[in-house]
Amino acid sequence: MPTILVVDDKDSMRNMLSETLSGEGYRVDATSDGKRALDLIRNKAYDLVLTDLKMPDTDGLAVLSGAKEVDNETPVILMTAYGTIEDAVQAMKLGAYDFITKPFDTEHLCVLVNRALENRRMVAENTLLREELLADHGVANIIGKNEKMIELCGLIQKVAKSDASVLLQGESGTGKELFARAIHQLSNRRE
Ligand SMILES: Nc1ncnc2c1ncn2[C@@H]1O[C@H](COP(=O)(O)OP(=O)(O)OP(=O)(O)O)[C@@H](O)[C@H]1O
Ligand SMILES: [Mg+2]
Repeated sequence: MPTILVVDDKDSMRNMLSETLSGEGYRVDATSDGKRALDLIRNKAYDLVLTDLKMPDTDGLAVLSGAKEVDNETPVILMTAYGTIEDAVQAMKLGAYDFITKPFDTEHLCVLVNRALENRRMVAENTLLREELLADHGVANIIGKNEKMIELCGLIQKVAKSDASVLLQGESGTGKELFARAIHQLSNRRE
């Protein structure tokens, strides 16, 4: 059962959303406070975050950034009563899944939530399949049981996900090309 975090400083809105989403069969945590939301996000894995944009102190964009920091694949939907294009554009730039303007009907929201979760499920499945596939071509070809080699195998997984340039150094025959190929295979840019 997917778990959703609802963040809205307005009690009536928060309660309505909790009831609606629980009724849809989701597990729901709700909080009125952006800072508390960030704590929850850091300590628990949410499948989706639904947050108000305008909140005192920690606003929806901060909640969005926090959620993306913990897990970039978590869909975040922002709600606002002051739906301006600029807000929407900034939220989308920061990686929001979508944007919904208050007042909205709950049916529209549920469609949006269902689609976001379905999308997330497919992305996760895709990642898993790709990793399984890569295990045959990337790191799996590297032989080595000592601490340094194990450390290196972890390190290349990390650097492969970044866009940084990587310099491989070592004596002839120590596996630079092997590691270069593994980094390439693990990279999001390998295509
Ligand atoms: N840790 C390892 N596990 C499995 N095979 C390895 C490992 N290290 C090196 N090899 C194998 O040894 C050979 C030489 O490795 P590689 O070509 O990657 O070395 P290199 O550092 O690029 O050498 P050079 O500097 O001469 O180009 C390759 O066939 C490679 O697959
Ligand atoms: Mg070489």
